[in-house]
Amino acid sequence: MEYAFKERIGKPGLFTGRKEELTYFLKWIDDIKEEKSQSTALLARRKMGKTALIERLFNITFFKNDGVIPFYYEVREAKMWVVDFCQDFFLTFIYQYIAFKSRKPGYLDPENRSDFGKTIEIAKQEGLDYLCGIIEGAAHAVAHEKIDILWNIAREAPKTIAARQKEYIVQMIDEFQFLNAMIYWDKDKKNPADSLAGGYLSTAESKVAPLLVSGSWVGWLMNLLKMMLPARFRYYPLENMPQDEAVEMVYKYSQFFDTPVTEETAYLVAEMAEGSPFYISSIFRSLYKQKDLCTAKGLTEILEFETLNNQGNIKLTWMEYVNAAFNKVNDRNAKKIVLHLFKHKDRELTRADLLEQLNLDMTDEELEMKMEALVKGDIINQGQTHFDFRCVQDNIFDKVFRGVYQKEIEHFDVGEIKKEYTRSIEKMQRQYRELQGKK
Ligand SMILES: Nc1ncnc2c1ncn2[C@@H]1O[C@H](COP(=O)(O)OP(=O)(O)OP(=O)(O)O)[C@@H](O)[C@H]1O
Ligand SMILES: [Mg+2]
Repeated sequence: MEYAFKERIGKPGLFTGRKEELTYFLKWIDDIKEEKSQSTALLARRKMGKTALIERLFNITFFKNDGVIPFYYEVREAKMWVVDFCQDFFLTFIYQYIAFKSRKPGYLDPENRSDFGKTIEIAKQEGLDYLCGIIEGAAHAVAHEKIDILWNIAREAPKTIAARQKEYIVQMIDEFQFLNAMIYWDKDKKNPADSLAGGYLSTAESKVAPLLVSGSWVGWLMNLLKMMLPARFRYYPLENMPQDEAVEMVYKYSQFFDTPVTEETAYLVAEMAEGSPFYISSIFRSLYKQKDLCTAKGLTEILEFETLNNQGNIKLTWMEYVNAAFNKVNDRNAKKIVLHLFKHKDRELTRADLLEQLNLDMTDEELEMKMEALVKGDIINQGQTHFDFRCVQDNIFDKVFRGVYQKEIEHFDVGEIKKEYTRSIEKMQRQYRELQGKK
């Protein structure tokens, strides 16, 4: 297969598994031709491989060339004036459309994505003259800063063209939650366009150009979808990889990064990573100097480095998210609450439990707001009801968090974390040997 779109995963061969999800979404994309597919949100905790999956879906759909045109757009985490954003969104779509129709992948990454005149020229050159009208319309709205009209043209462009040409388009929008947070009505970027996503209320109902949205802030994304786009999206959860795919990924990364594993350590890596592609990839990419993945001891050292060292990619990544969330909820109580939930891993706790068990000096309303912010920041999970909470079920995140805050709050010895890793790995080793009938 030709990989027209450069995937962030790097070498395309590194992409592993996700068989169930690929089967589901390829059928979902195929069903667009029957106008059966409903807009869907791909939801998962961060780093679960959402972007990798979406980019792969783009490439397969582009390559298959079977009646559905793929469009991929990532809303960037950078402040943008709404006019610049709409222009970028619109022209990205137009170029991807031209690339598909002309079968020239070069257009996926055009040299110049800001010149309407040049785009019209290219459309004509490729025999797609019918695009000129809409491009001129967008150019006019940009030139005159007609913001509402421009956002309508840009947002509806895939749907408009699909309907007009009797074609089908799949719109894949990553980091959808930033739509309401990174775009500004004014050039000085003081006045946030925090209702932009609401425009999808009708656009997302389209059956000729349905959406597949995703984002790295899943709590935030869910909140946006529920509040602004009720009943417009189906939710598709992306879970950890099943064990066979995780082990397959370990072997691929082992070969690619020239870091040998044994059959036993391959199993241990997959199990310790709990099937998270991000953890597997971070273990192999780790900057830890004496990297040895042929022994359980070597794996423990890498995990310890990745969890506790400031150069550990896992710690760096998680702390970025934790800091962003704690900026809004920055106090000792929030940290105490998260630590407390980690201590009661297997249970959900109610706000009343937390108030009582932690002796929190705050009202229930204050606690409610704090908990909401923590859920929105993916630091904790909502339980069965609005009143219940639980920690995220992730043994590595738990240790990163405790490594930083338990020390601060409870004078905890971080050496404990190493012991926990050693114990878990020993347990898995026993499991593995039992499986092998070796004991
Ligand atoms: N199927 C896969 N095969 C191999 N590696 C993968 C796969 N999925 C994800 N990865 C690797 O895992 C890491 C996280 O993947 P990705 O960025 O796609 O996750 P994400 O869910 O989009 O993350 P975020 O929440 O930050 O948006 C990357 O290093 C990626 O290369
Ligand atoms: Mg992503």
